[in-house]
Order: sequence, then structure tokens, then C-alpha cells
Amino acid sequence: MPTDLVRTRRRLRTANACPEAVEDSTGECRRSRAAVESPRSRRGELIAARYRVMRRLGRGGMASVWLALDNQLARPVALKELATEGAALREARAASAVCHPGVVQVYGVFRDGGREWIVMEALSGMTLRRSLREGGPLPAAQVVPLGISLLQALETVHRAGLVHGDVKPGNVQILSTGSPVLIDFGLASEALWASPETPFVAGSPPYMAPEVIRSGVREGASDLFSLGASLYEAATGRRPFEGATPVETAEAVLHSDPEPALPGSAVGRVIEGLLVKDSRHRIRAVEAQTYLRESRARSFGRPPVRDAVAAGVSIGTRPHG
Ligand SMILES: Nc1ncnc2c1ncn2[C@@H]1O[C@H](COP(=O)(O)OP(=O)(O)OP(=O)(O)O)[C@@H](O)[C@H]1O
Ligand SMILES: [Mg+2]
Repeated sequence: MPTDLVRTRRRLRTANACPEAVEDSTGECRRSRAAVESPRSRRGELIAARYRVMRRLGRGGMASVWLALDNQLARPVALKELATEGAALREARAASAVCHPGVVQVYGVFRDGGREWIVMEALSGMTLRRSLREGGPLPAAQVVPLGISLLQALETVHRAGLVHGDVKPGNVQILSTGSPVLIDFGLASEALWASPETPFVAGSPPYMAPEVIRSGVREGASDLFSLGASLYEAATGRRPFEGATPVETAEAVLHSDPEPALPGSAVGRVIEGLLVKDSRHRIRAVEAQTYLRESRARSFGRPPVRDAVAAGVSIGTRPHG
């Protein structure tokens, strides 16, 4: 058995020992013990003598998120109730290091009732995951702007010296205006080069980049791979890499090539470029944006000049055809 596979098995087995950090191969979150302990409803509760809970907005493997009214500032907020001790401050600091319309805004963090809480802007809409489950795949004309917006958001995250670490449809909120917002900085970190012996790998196997599975290395390009897997799913309704177990899914990420998504289209080529296994040869964010902007401009029948300028790319360096 190749060494990378042995390592993958060992890492994912270790990861399975702390399931709150890992999705199974179907992408369904296994709930951590603490998350299960979080009450089914907190409706009407006053948290920290300030936030009146109205309803649940969502639940993940690590947290419950509630819609609440901030009585002091008289505005709705999202309260993230974390299952893990000591995680809130790290997550809140990471998210608040980034200021971009495509990234959720964090207002604060506190402890109350033995729990850690993050206060965030309350976002409208639903996750991309739910949207795909309920409405099926998106037409190419919608995948293009989705990709552009998420690439821009990720560029800002990376410029802040961070890696999101968990880009997937469940961590993209599609606002009622249609704009996507990156949420859940629970696995965000500085770019990390783990030692080969580091046994901890967290994330969602169907969206994890090969270098993360192999060695725990997390870099900006790893988020781009995860974005590629998410856009593939948005375009086709299928995940590019599937297996019956997390280890099989990881093996598929490492060794198999998915059927092309939207063959012959610019967005299909960008998805392919994002899913390149070797991070050194993966398409860069700025290049991917340029292709998507050009394809959007073509579909509107106007030249891509303004878009190319906005992407910071000198005009004429990219083929328009
Ligand atoms: N700011 C927000 N506004 C509205 N809904 C939100 C917000 N943040 C999170 N949610 C909802 O709550 C769900 C869980 O949030 P989040 O992804 O942050 O939790 P998690 O437990 O860290 O997730 P994971 O299972 O990916 O680890 C999201 O999928 C989304 O539906
Ligand atoms: Mg999440």
C-alpha cells in the first residue's frame, strides 16, 4: 500500500476519534456529544442578560446557531453556541480579521451559562447545501457569479494570512439577494505546515485538498481545491469525490478524477483547474476570476474590459475567446 494511503488511513482514523471535527463521507455532520446536549429550543431565553433568542437558524457538527434580538443595540444577531471549550475566541478572532461583504461579520464573543458564544450578523437565506438539496444543481449562469464572489472572499481571507480550512456548501450562506457569504471559521488557521507525524486532520473529506489529507499542510490553495469541489457540486448536484467511508472518500480525492463538470464551458475549465491535485499547479484565484469574469461578460455580450481591470489583471494578457 502506498505510504500516502497508509498515512491517510491513520490520519482519518484519528480524526474519526474526534467526530465533532469531521463530516462523514455523505457530508452529514455527526453531532458531537456537546452539540447533542444543546437544547432543542432556546426560544424566549435571555442570554447574557442581553440577547433574547427567537429561533434556531441552524446546527452543525460543532455548534447551534440561534437568531436573537440584541436588546442593547435593538438589532437581530446570530448567536453561535459552541460545543467545544476554548474554540470561540479563536474562531471569532479569525473571522473578525477579515472585512469583506462575502465573509460573515463577527460582533463579539462571550461566555454565559457554561457555554461559549459568538455574536454575528444574522444572515438571510439558506446554505448552499440546503439550496442544492431542495432545488437541485444551479444553472451555469449562476455558478459563474457564485464562483467569482467566493474567489474574492477567499482572496481577502488569504491576504489576511488565514486559511478558512472548511470551504464546503454547508459553510456558504446564500443570502436572499443571491449573494454568497462564507461562514464558519471554526477550522480557520494561519497557513499551516503540519509535521508528517501530526495525527490531527479536521475537515470534510469530500472537500479536503489532497495535500491536507496527505500531510496536514493547509495553504490558500487548499481552500481553492475545496471551492472547486463545492462549485462542482453546485453545477452538477453530485460531489466530485464519493466513497462509502471517509477513508474511501479520501482515497478518491487522492487518486480519482471526476467526470468533467459542465464540459466545454469556461466554468467547467475553472472547476477542473481548482481540482488539480498538485497545489503547485492548481489555478490561482486571480486567474480563475479572470476566466469567470470573461465568461460572464461573453454571456452578456459585452467586452470583459471592466471586469478584467477590476480583477487587477492587465488587459490583453488573457485570451478572450
Ligand atoms: N451568521 C449566520 N446567520 C444565519 N445563519 C447562520 C449563521 N451562521 C451559521 N448559520 C447557520 O447555522 C449552521 C451551523 O453553523 P456553522 O456552520 O457555523 O456551525 P458548525 O457546527 O461550525 O458547522 P460544521 O458542521 O460545518 O462544523 C449553518 O449551516 C447555517 O445554517
Ligand atoms: Mg459549518
